[in-house]
Amino acid sequence: MGLTHRLGGPTLRRRTILSAGLAATVLALPRLAGRPAAAADGPALRLHAKPGQAGLLPSADGGPTRIWGYDGLVPGPIVRARKGDIVDVELENGLDQPTTIHWHGVRIDNAMDGVPHLTQAPVAPGERFRYRFAVPDAGTFWYHPHHASWEQVARGLYGLLIVDEDDAPDVDREILFVADDWRLDADGRIDEGSFGGMHDWAHAGRLGNVLTINGQPPQQLSVRPNERLRLRMANTANARVFSFTLDGLAAWTVAVDGQPVPPAPTGRVVLAPGQRVDLVVDAPPAVGEAAIAEATGTPFTALGFRVEGEPIRPDPRSTPQALAANPLPAALDLAQAVQVDVVMEGGAMGMGPLRGSMGMHPHGPMPPVPDWGALAPRGLVWALNGVAGHPDAPLVTAMRGQTVVLHFVNATRWPHAMHLHGHHARVVARDGQEVAPEPWRDTHLVDPMQVASAAFVADNPGDWMLHCHMLEHQAGGMETWFRVTG
Ligand code: C2O
Ligand code: CU
Repeated sequence: MGLTHRLGGPTLRRRTILSAGLAATVLALPRLAGRPAAAADGPALRLHAKPGQAGLLPSADGGPTRIWGYDGLVPGPIVRARKGDIVDVELENGLDQPTTIHWHGVRIDNAMDGVPHLTQAPVAPGERFRYRFAVPDAGTFWYHPHHASWEQVARGLYGLLIVDEDDAPDVDREILFVADDWRLDADGRIDEGSFGGMHDWAHAGRLGNVLTINGQPPQQLSVRPNERLRLRMANTANARVFSFTLDGLAAWTVAVDGQPVPPAPTGRVVLAPGQRVDLVVDAPPAVGEAAIAEATGTPFTALGFRVEGEPIRPDPRSTPQALAANPLPAALDLAQAVQVDVVMEGGAMGMGPLRGSMGMHPHGPMPPVPDWGALAPRGLVWALNGVAGHPDAPLVTAMRGQTVVLHFVNATRWPHAMHLHGHHARVVARDGQEVAPEPWRDTHLVDPMQVASAAFVADNPGDWMLHCHMLEHQAGGMETWFRVTG
């Protein structure tokens, strides 16, 4: 099977990667950083944000590529803990610009959320910041900067935060699948000239032209017939919504954005930026090949499976057990909920009056029409409720324990990955029609001209960001914040 990992994008290069030389490579896991210790004087882990090098391309095709990474690696070291542990990490900033770490998806203590100017001062070059927080939920999470993330994440600053269940599910092996797209030039260098390009900001965001899984070109994994894997998938790309198809594999979704769901068979995984999905994947009963393909364009292999050797067990296994529940807040109180519109506007082909074509009438008064003529020259091309960029006042102030429904009204021509900090929400209505509650997520993909109503219990006090995780959209104005008192 030929492997290519070209992706469509504004600067697509005609680069063809053949599988020769990769066939024998086993998918390497990024190294473990070690587990957080219990009580210690110093931090249990250190993450040093600094320049490094990574083999994003097969060596025959160029590189290594100069990146920025935690400890100079991409992905950065895995931060691994058990449910309820204290994670204790000291960030050292070896970059020439400020940075922070945000622990994406963790229902964290607000002071440790890593948002510059909202929850902490940015960490200046040469300085350190110690993050110390409890992890209430088991699941697959990730960490990344929240300062100039459109550049820092694109250069490679990200890593997985894995919180283990008390009872680990019964699988033969765990495989990480951290998908990213990079915009590389013909020499395999990060295309720096296009950082901050307004075309990207007003359209889909910065799309790359090279796919990596775990910071490497697509690999082949050797598995035995009937082997059961747990796959932790994450999308760390700035803007690309990946679509992965599972070819020749039996798979069940067992968690979404870290939160367990009843195991459901699946053949396709859509991952918006910031999202994660945990799968249980069974290799086929006979020797042969299988694959996970990236399928937003012409499908190509993102992870190949070579099924070989003696079967690990005589028969295929049945549906996996559900993961143990996380301690999410008690039931939503939809009858008493605070209803909040989040009217999303702007972007190319969207600065006209798209709001008038939306099916659902918003709950509050229509926000003022943004003055795009004045905003766009300042790089502000997206707005939430008529405001482009960080507003002075919170979107909503909720009392601790109150149920909040966010009505995401996407009056734009683009999908957006709406991420809320410190909480997980579930969609309870679409286009104004009640739906069976969807999985709890921290990042919700809202399609163009759709309304998605996501409900959560505001149980975590503090000031929290709410923004699009297409990082150019966030930087281009699609961000706000909310307050939980008490
Ligand atoms: Cu993963 Cu506010 O970000
Ligand atoms: Cu967006």
